[in-house]
Formats: sequence, structure tokens, C-alpha cells
Amino acid sequence: MKGIILAGGNGTRLRPLTLITNKHLLPVYNKPMILYPLETLRKSGIDEIMIVCGKEHAGHFMNFLSSGENYGVKLSYALQHDAGGIAEALGLAEDFADNGKIAVILGDNIFEDDFSNNIKSFRKQNGAKVFIKKVTDPTRFGIAVIKEGKIISIEEKPKNPKSNFATVGFYLYDSDVFKKIKNLKPSKRGELEITDVHNMYIKENNLSYGVVKGFWSDAGTFESLFKTSKWALSRK
Ligand code: G1P
Repeated sequence: MKGIILAGGNGTRLRPLTLITNKHLLPVYNKPMILYPLETLRKSGIDEIMIVCGKEHAGHFMNFLSSGENYGVKLSYALQHDAGGIAEALGLAEDFADNGKIAVILGDNIFEDDFSNNIKSFRKQNGAKVFIKKVTDPTRFGIAVIKEGKIISIEEKPKNPKSNFATVGFYLYDSDVFKKIKNLKPSKRGELEITDVHNMYIKENNLSYGVVKGFWSDAGTFESLFKTSKWALSRK
């Protein structure tokens, strides 16, 4: 299975740091953030990876990671011209995916777990698979509404969350995902939302989920970036 790291966006919540470089190149303890999702994919058995990044800092990614050889992976790059959302960024990887199943990780999501077993079992499955983790700040995330052990909907950054289960930034998809992305309409924040893609899979009864057991963080705010660096230090 091929992997895609989504590393676009303006990182507005981390200004002024992100006025200098891209969010995904900022340090998490002792290395740039992007190396964590790269390592999560590699540990999960994925070594053919596309990085989708914004054009302003694309050169920094390429200078730093190059072909990926030093990290045991083979890298390709795609450029996202505007920050049009996670689903828009993923749409740019359609040719790379080449009608196969894909694993997608958000460039600011740091995981302790690897996903090898999930990837193995997803090879025999259709649809999409998302992963959830209990959080204390559910208004920040895509929140899964679960009924009788099934996700019946996902609400993006709800004001009144119906659960504490966030959908984390690691997703498995069949090749149908690109058709779904083409049918998306921009959300109120003007982006193509990955949560809307998941709701389309739910409507077709084709979305399964797993639970993240180890540490997970979306390092996209000052508090979480700091917390994630502390975790990385404690793990040494
Ligand atoms: C994105 C997704 C959200 C998900 C989160 C995980 O939010 O839209 O559904 O829960 O990543 O990190 P963002 O951080 O881009 O606002």
C-alpha cells in the first residue's frame, strides 16, 4: 500500500513561527515534525510515500528530505497551491495512488502506535477506515457520533460535541475516495473537509474504525506542540 503525508495549510494557529517556515518543519523536541508521520508510515510497512505540501516552503521539504533514501523510504512530492483543505490536498495524490488502496496521515499528527496490523487487514476490505481516540477538548476535532458500536456520523469541530471521541489524522481508503472528493462542496471555513468524505462512506455503510491506544497528538497549536515535544523527550 502507498502512503500520503498531507503537509499543506498555512499553520495560522502557530504564527509567528509559521511565517518563517512550514508548520511541519518546526521542531518537535529534537527533529522536524514531518519525520514523525514519516516514521509512523515506515513502521507500518509503507515505504512509497507522497508528500503534499504548500508551494511557499516546498523547497525546504525537498532540501531536507530529498528522495527519502536517508529515511528508508521513496518520496514523491505534490504541490498544493492554496490552503483548500485536507480533502483538496488528498485529491492531488490521485495519480500517485494509481487506483490502489492508500494510507493517509496528517503531517502534524504524532502517534506512538504503528498501524501495521490495520493495514494488513484493510487489504482485504473495501471502503474507508478511520481511527478514534478519547480527548478532553472535542471542539477542536472531527468528532465521531457512535451508536451501538458504529459511527453514525462525524461532526467537524462541533460547538456541542456529542462524544469525546476524536477522529485522528490517520485514514485508510479504497480508490473510491477520489470520486468522493470530486463531489465535495467547500465548508463554512472555505475548505474541502475530510470529515465530509467520511460521512459519504458512512452513508454507504462503508466506514469502519479502530481505536488508537498509545500517545497521539495533533501538534498544530502552541500547547499541543509543547506537549508533544515533552512526550518525545520522555520517550528517549
Ligand atoms: C483535522 C480534521 C479533523 C481531525 C484533525 C486531527 O483538523 O479536519 O477532523 O480530527 O485534523 O488532527 P485540523 O487540525 O486540520 O483543523
